[in-house]
Amino acid sequence: MRTQIGIVGAGPAGLVLAHLLHLAGIESVVLENRSRQYIEERVRAGLLEHGTVNLLIETGVGERLQRECLTHHGIVLRFHRSSHRIDFNELTGGKTVTIYAQQEVIKDLVAARLATGLPIFFDVEDLTVHGYDGRSPSVRFRSEGKEEVLHCDFIAGCDGFHGICRPSLAAGVLTVFERVYPFAWLGILAEAPPSNDELVYCYHERGFALLTMRTPQVSRLYLQVPHDEDIDEWPDDRIWSELRKRTDAKGNWKLNEGRIFQKNIAPMRSFVVEPMQHGRMFLAGDAAHIVPPTGAKGLNLAVADVRIMAKGFAEFYETGSTALLDRYSEICLRRVWKAQRFSWWMTSMLHRFDTDNAFDQRRQIAELDYVTSSRAAMTTLAENYVGLPWD
Ligand code: FAD
Ligand code: PHB
Repeated sequence: MRTQIGIVGAGPAGLVLAHLLHLAGIESVVLENRSRQYIEERVRAGLLEHGTVNLLIETGVGERLQRECLTHHGIVLRFHRSSHRIDFNELTGGKTVTIYAQQEVIKDLVAARLATGLPIFFDVEDLTVHGYDGRSPSVRFRSEGKEEVLHCDFIAGCDGFHGICRPSLAAGVLTVFERVYPFAWLGILAEAPPSNDELVYCYHERGFALLTMRTPQVSRLYLQVPHDEDIDEWPDDRIWSELRKRTDAKGNWKLNEGRIFQKNIAPMRSFVVEPMQHGRMFLAGDAAHIVPPTGAKGLNLAVADVRIMAKGFAEFYETGSTALLDRYSEICLRRVWKAQRFSWWMTSMLHRFDTDNAFDQRRQIAELDYVTSSRAAMTTLAENYVGLPWD
C-alpha cells in the first residue's frame, strides 16, 4: 500500500486532518485500532470554539451540527451561592461557543470519509511506525489477520495521549513539560433537562462542580473527586446529593435530576512535548499535549493543530517547499501554551487543592470576585474561552 500521508488514529485530529487533505487533493490512509462503533460512542468533550465550528461548517461537515447544536452566548461562575454571568456576546464582539458532543463530530467525520470511498481502517492491530528519520516512512499493522505495510511520504501521529507515535520517537528527541493535579473529574450523563441554559462553573468548599449539557433533554455533570477515586464509591444517590450541595444557589434555583446512563472518571493533567515534529513524523492533538478540561480546550486544540499541518502539506505538494512544515511545531506551540495557561488558570481558580490553606481559599475567592466584577478580567476570560484567533 502507498499513500501521501499515513494518519494514525481516527479521533478528532486524525479525522479532521483526513478531511482537510481530501479537500486539498492530497491522499491519505487513516488507521484506527478501535472499532467504528467504539469511537462513535466514546463519551468525551462537548464544547466547541467558534473557530472549530466555522471550520466544520465551511468544509462541509457541519450540516447536522448546525441543526442539532446548542449555541451559548456566555457562562456562569458560581461561588458563595451567587451566580455571575460572563457575557461573551458583549465582551468578544458577538462570538459564541457551541455544545455538540465529540462523538457526534466523530460520526459526521467518519460518514464524510466513508462517503469519499477513501481508505479508513478500523480495528487495526500491532501498529508500528518506521523510517520517519529518513525519506521513506512506513506504517506496519495487521488488519483482518493480514500483515500490511503502508508506505507514505509523512506520518501524522494523531493517536492520542496513549498512542504509539510519540513514544516511538527516540529518547532525547522530545522534551516533556508536565503537571499532574491531585484530583480528577467524575462525569455523568443524565436524562434530565439542563438546569440552566448556559454552563455553570461552581466553586465550593466541598470541591468543584460543572453543569453542562448535551441536548435539551440530556445533562452532562461533573464533580471534582480525588485523583485515585474508585467509581464504585459513587452510587447515583451520592452523586446527586453532592451535586445538590455544590451547585446550591440563592434565589430560585433547582437542580434537575434524572436517570444516570453514563458515568466515568477522567484524570487531570497538563502535558506538552516539544517539538511536535521530528523528521517526517508530525504529532497533533492529545498525542502532543493534554489540558485539564476546565477550559474545554482539548478537542479545539487538536483541530487547530491539524489545520496548520494540512496547510503545510498543501504547500509542500503544490510548491515543493517545506517552509511551513518546518515551522509546524513552532506555530502550534504558541497556541498550545496559551491554551495550557488558560486551562491551568481556570483549574487553579475553581478547584479545591489538598494543600489548600485559609490564605489560598481567600485568594481564590478574591480572584473569582475580581474576574466577575472587572470588565478587563471578564474580557480576558471570555476571549480565551471562545478561542483565541486562529492566525
Ligand atoms: P483522541 O480523541 O484520543 O484520538 C486518538 C485516536 O487514536 C483514538 O481513536 C484511539 O483509539 C486511536 N489510537 C490510539 N492508539 C492507537 C494505535 N496504536 N494505533 C491506531 N490508533 C490508535 N476535552 C474537553 O474539552 N472536554 C471534556 O469534557 C473532555 N473529556 C475527556 C474525557 C476523557 C476520558 C478523555 C480521554 C479526554 C477528554 N477531553 C475532553 C479531551 C478531548 O476529548 C481530547 O482532547 C480529544 O479527543 C483529542 O483528540 P485527538 O484526536 O487528539 O485524540
Ligand atoms: C462538556 O460539555 O463536556 C464540557 C464543557 C466545558 C468544559 C468541560 C467539559 O470546561
